[in-house]
Amino acid sequence: MKFQLSKSSSKISSETLVEFVSVNKNKINTEGLPKSIKDLASASFRDGLLKGNVKDIKVFPSLNMEGYKNIVLVGLGNKKNQNIECIRFAASSLYSALKSYNLRKVDVSLTSLQKHSKNLGDSIKAFVEGAELTHYNFDDYKPKAKDKYEAEFNLVGPAKLISKSAKDSLNEGIIMSECIMVARRLGDTPGNLMTPEILAKTAAKEAKGSKLKVTVWDKARIKKERMGGLLGVSLGGGPDPRFIIMEYKGAAASKKPVCFVGKGLTFDSGGISIKPSGGMHEMKYDMCGGANVIGTMLAIARLKLKVNVVAYVPSTENMPGPMANKPGDILTARNGKQVEVLNTDAEGRLILMDALSYACEKKPAVIFDAATLTGAVIMALGNSFTGVFTREDKLYSKIKKAADKTCERVWQLPLMEHHMNDMKGTHAELSNMSSFRGAGSSTAAAFLSNFVEEDIPWAHFDIAGTAWKVGNRLNYCPSKGASGSMIRTFVELSKMF
Ligand code: BES
Ligand code: ZN
Ligand code: ZN
Repeated sequence: MKFQLSKSSSKISSETLVEFVSVNKNKINTEGLPKSIKDLASASFRDGLLKGNVKDIKVFPSLNMEGYKNIVLVGLGNKKNQNIECIRFAASSLYSALKSYNLRKVDVSLTSLQKHSKNLGDSIKAFVEGAELTHYNFDDYKPKAKDKYEAEFNLVGPAKLISKSAKDSLNEGIIMSECIMVARRLGDTPGNLMTPEILAKTAAKEAKGSKLKVTVWDKARIKKERMGGLLGVSLGGGPDPRFIIMEYKGAAASKKPVCFVGKGLTFDSGGISIKPSGGMHEMKYDMCGGANVIGTMLAIARLKLKVNVVAYVPSTENMPGPMANKPGDILTARNGKQVEVLNTDAEGRLILMDALSYACEKKPAVIFDAATLTGAVIMALGNSFTGVFTREDKLYSKIKKAADKTCERVWQLPLMEHHMNDMKGTHAELSNMSSFRGAGSSTAAAFLSNFVEEDIPWAHFDIAGTAWKVGNRLNYCPSKGASGSMIRTFVELSKMF
């Protein structure tokens, strides 16, 4: 879609005008609206047609007012309790309303957006994200629609509102949306069309034109680098594994990088410990950790942030072929630790153990990993909170701060000594499965902690619940597809070290 800023003095060619309103103590606030539209909003409020709450939209077609054919009123709720997620929600609902009326050329009033939201720059960015991310639709493999709906948003205001910072905000919104959509598309594309090789090639293709350097290791190199977990999981069959490295240098060379690691399991059948067939197709999303880390790196590079970042994405399928890991097999990780594979379906931790060990060798400032790691996190937190595990409470405070800023929901879950004990093996140092029932997400995190040196700050994000199918919580996310969770928070975090 198209988003642009323009001065109200320039010739208006749109058919539709969008104005914002807010509410306070059961009263509608119409500050900043032209007189005729103020009256319209007040009358609609009085008649109960418009409540002014977030997600409340009222379309007045063929009204012919203020030189526009159609007028649309958008509620932003009570300004006091508002955050930027409210703007995303409002923009998403607006997009859906415009689409249902097939309104394609829209002027959006910056004067009223400024009056009824807290910070114009943040609101412009969130507006673009809310609308563009709702427009996302994974229909690449469906018959082409004859006249696909596309809208053109013209954000109009007086010259003083069309500042350099407003332009930057618009640009940030566009870049963030694009990178989140790249990640969603990687997630939504099924296993046969999104193999480790294709994942790596797409990351490299998307990185073109930016300062991102992408290096891809093939199976032979993975073996040579002693990545026994990634190699072991890949032996189950399917396409060859890859280890994807992405590097971006936007700060002084002496500055230690922030490191992201993402689980890139392009299809998880469970392996020999095979999953039940109902719902198994959803395991194409098991590479969303990798996809969202790739999306994060693209965003950082395209935004040209002054930070140093590096990302590692181990990628393979988990299949039950004749050479697959068998329960009881012992694998050796890159850092030399040996692991008894008691359940081949707990494969995410096996590929992450090598990636985390490798990441530590580079002595980064901090490591964040994202993985659709456990079904247990969905039992604990549902699809609205990402579970976060870390050995350092101070690091969690930073994560919470970043997530509060982007309005992504995180919740700290325990990672304790006894979870570590539960992951001890019988015939090897470690087991990939807990010896006790329950706390499956904590024991998975405890397993990973064996591969991160203690002096490196590290946090693990279990996005199994939030990486897809969150449309019932967030209107700008698809109800059945990938969400791109944590990309916004990771971009924010990259600036904090
Ligand atoms: N990819 C799954 C986790 C998952 C489950 C993600 C459901 C999204 C939705 C992971 O590889 C897995 O199968 N984990 C097992 C671990 C268990 C065998 C210790 C799980 O959570 O059941
Ligand atoms: Zn699994
Ligand atoms: Zn998995």
